[in-house]
Amino acid sequence: MYKSIIRPLLFKLDPEKAHHLIFNTLRLLFKVPGVRFFTKMMFDTTDKKHQKTVMGLTFKNPIGLAAGFDKDAVLYEELSCLGFGFIEIGTLTPLAQPGNDKPRMFRLPEYKGLINRMGFNNGGVNAAIERLKDKPKSLIIGGNIGKNKATSNDDALKDYEIAFEALHPFVDYFVINVSSPNTPNLRALQDKEPLTALLKRVYQLNQSKEIKRPILLKIAPDLNEDQLIEIIEIVESENITGIIATNTTIDKSNIPESYLHAREQGGLSGLPVKEKSTAIIKFLRKHAKRELVIIAVGGIFTSTDAKEKLDAGADLVQVYTGFIYEGPAMVKHILKGL
Ligand code: FNR
Repeated sequence: MYKSIIRPLLFKLDPEKAHHLIFNTLRLLFKVPGVRFFTKMMFDTTDKKHQKTVMGLTFKNPIGLAAGFDKDAVLYEELSCLGFGFIEIGTLTPLAQPGNDKPRMFRLPEYKGLINRMGFNNGGVNAAIERLKDKPKSLIIGGNIGKNKATSNDDALKDYEIAFEALHPFVDYFVINVSSPNTPNLRALQDKEPLTALLKRVYQLNQSKEIKRPILLKIAPDLNEDQLIEIIEIVESENITGIIATNTTIDKSNIPESYLHAREQGGLSGLPVKEKSTAIIKFLRKHAKRELVIIAVGGIFTSTDAKEKLDAGADLVQVYTGFIYEGPAMVKHILKGL
């Protein structure tokens, strides 16, 4: 029903408007008695055979919702009823910020892709923690953090510190996002010196806490092999738990220039980034120590796609664009096929 009725209607709307419509509809629907129960019955999975323990956390299944979908931790509880094994909120920045001008999200339906240049639109970390205070313990939530647009790269460390400190009591793992193409210069934080300083500081902060949270670094799919080797070395030497690969790509060469929206500025996700992401997972797994946790994201639509990422060496996977195209039964279908 999603693909034949709901998706064609949603795809007539501007993508960001469709996103808000879905959010508001789900929020309202879940206020109706019985809807939560019914949704869980339809889409959630309780089969213990999908359970997986990674980073000391037991996931009910290895399929997570990637960062960017529920940036402000508004709907994570409802979304978890669709079967997700974990949900990553964010990217959150210390201060609220509006993001880039609209329109800033574009569908490429024939290529099963999306281009976005949202630019970390979010309500700020403090507003999000208010909504995380009642989080059920059984839900695994990742906190993806970044810097405000107005903060220079020289001062970026402070922003990550603020967001880390604020979220620490409320999330189960952290993601240091230095790979969005939509915050000017952010990707330069993937370079050796700033990255080492950033990860060192976050690790120190974490060590000062009673509860130590797993910390992952989210990387771009546009890094070359030398850069990847350098990142593995830094992550391992700074005792970082793992890597999330990958964010969206700025390489649009596999979409014809003439296709509608194909050359919009921003990051490309979905099917066009799938192979690149998988190649990076394989490379990381080949060159990193086995203990390095890898979460794969990029172009997962089906159980075959998820299996490809797990076979390439990922411990867990996440989806975003695939969820838009496949709809609410996506996790259930993937798990059935795994
Ligand atoms: C994203 N993504 C993203 N990632 C992140 O770390 N922080 C963010 O705020 C966002 N925001 C965001 C918005 C939109 C509209 C999209 C499409 C994507 C990237 C996302 O988490 C994921 O890494 C990529 O989209 C690749 O996965 P998919 O979409 O191909 O499954």
